[in-house]
Amino acid sequence: MQLDLPARILTLRKAAKSEKDPPCADETLALLMGLAGAGTRVLEVGAGLGLTAASLAMRGASVVAIERDEARCMRARELFSELSLPVTLLEGDAGSILPTLEGPFDVIFLDCAKVQYRRYFADCKRLLARGGTLVSDDVLLFGREGEVPAKRHMLARHIGEFLELLTGDPDFSTEIYEYGEGVAVSKRV
Ligand SMILES: C[S@@+](CC[C@H](N)C(=O)[O-])C[C@H]1O[C@@H](n2cnc3c(N)ncnc32)[C@H](O)[C@@H]1O
Repeated sequence: MQLDLPARILTLRKAAKSEKDPPCADETLALLMGLAGAGTRVLEVGAGLGLTAASLAMRGASVVAIERDEARCMRARELFSELSLPVTLLEGDAGSILPTLEGPFDVIFLDCAKVQYRRYFADCKRLLARGGTLVSDDVLLFGREGEVPAKRHMLARHIGEFLELLTGDPDFSTEIYEYGEGVAVSKRV
């Protein structure tokens, strides 16, 4: 798929796809770019190298991103500085940072450790504006056909419980797309 982004970002995304914890799928980024126009308030939980945050900030969105890995934070900061993008990067664990934030955000992109999604859901809901969208990545990681490897049972259970919580919440209307490892798009009604 063709993303409407500068060559520098596309090159970095291509290289980052072979790293551990890669950026989101092209289709997911296109979806996020469709949601985040000028002035949109975006919160990204799990910023990685900052490539998605940078792509959204380039569209004029106001982006706050959380990342706990020091080396990735450094690379993300270098990228934001190189491209002169005013992304607010909060370094640390989302479990400690989320309760300290005040919303509202129009879009929240949940893309950190999947075992924590369920735990972070209440804060995401609190921080999301009415009419806003929660985008949760990798929700089909082990939800497609086939056996879940024994080592992954706990992770699969956590993702399943998160999806139950999300789809059972009457304040959200959720659709799941098969982009990458699956993405849940939940509109706050
Ligand atoms: C898949 S990568 C994020 C990719 C990024 N969202 C993108 O699209 O470019 C997941 C990131 O979440 C970070 N992470 C995982 N759990 C976290 C937590 N509890 N708090 C903050 N960051 C976390 C990891 O260090 C990793 O960099």
